[in-house]
Amino acid sequence: MTSVLLGLLRPSRAWMLARAVVFYEGMNMRTQRTSNCFLLAMGYTVFMIIKEKNVILRPITLGDAERFVLWFNDPEVNKFLHRRSMTLEQEREWIKASPEKRQEVNFAIDTSGGVHIGSVGLRNIDEVYHYADFGIMIGDKNYWNKGLGSEATNLMLCYGFEQLHLHRIELDVYEYNERAIKVYERIGFIKEGVKREHVLWDGKFYDTILMGMLASEWENKKTRKGFS
Ligand SMILES: CC(C)(COP(=O)(O)OP(=O)(O)OC[C@H]1O[C@@H](n2cnc3c(N)ncnc32)[C@H](O)[C@@H]1OP(=O)(O)O)[C@@H](O)C(=O)NCCC(=O)NCCS
Repeated sequence: MTSVLLGLLRPSRAWMLARAVVFYEGMNMRTQRTSNCFLLAMGYTVFMIIKEKNVILRPITLGDAERFVLWFNDPEVNKFLHRRSMTLEQEREWIKASPEKRQEVNFAIDTSGGVHIGSVGLRNIDEVYHYADFGIMIGDKNYWNKGLGSEATNLMLCYGFEQLHLHRIELDVYEYNERAIKVYERIGFIKEGVKREHVLWDGKFYDTILMGMLASEWENKKTRKGFS
């Protein structure tokens, strides 16, 4: 119930409510402030990860579905994604199934002003080997190049390393996605390999670059620009 309430509220109001809920006894609410992110959770359900800067991560709701469909079908966005199209029905089914998935965690990215601009997540979370795959999409192109993707990436890494205690987070990025590569390198991902001519776009094959970060590297680098 609380998750539904928080998901529906605008972030600023939700944040105020969250602060109040923290003090509510008997609900087994758990809050945890790490060096870089603030987590609000009950049991295993995470309500929000907040850094009190320019973005907020919150649960994805069915009300977000139409925006996701728009973004996944935009060729200027999906040229950077593995998924090249999406129907409203597929998106709704995916959102409904999400809470059941133990090996995946996805959040909507909102600006601090409450505009939904994309999503970020960890997939294929491996509880034995402690690694996961990172993915992000700022679907609203008006919000590209404003530092928001970097901030959302930092929050997700913070969650992955400091809450899920992952040892390693990795990602795939297409060679022509120079903006994403810049973001990942600046944050501290290391280029680990190349899958040659792995992705087909506009009739031509391009390389996919594999990048990864270890928990020890996160610890070393999190005080750099963009983290504090
Ligand atoms: C990739 C993405 C997450 C980056 O988020 P963002 O908020 O746009 O990025 P930021 O503003 O945090 O940083 C972008 C940086 O790349 C730079 N940049 C932009 N275009 C560039 C280009 N063509 N080549 C090199 N650098 C570029 C920007 O100048 C900025 O660097 P600066 O802060 O030093 O000026 C976002 O643009 C996005 O979701 N794009 C569409 C989907 C996608 O590519 N997902 C990732 C799949 S791996």
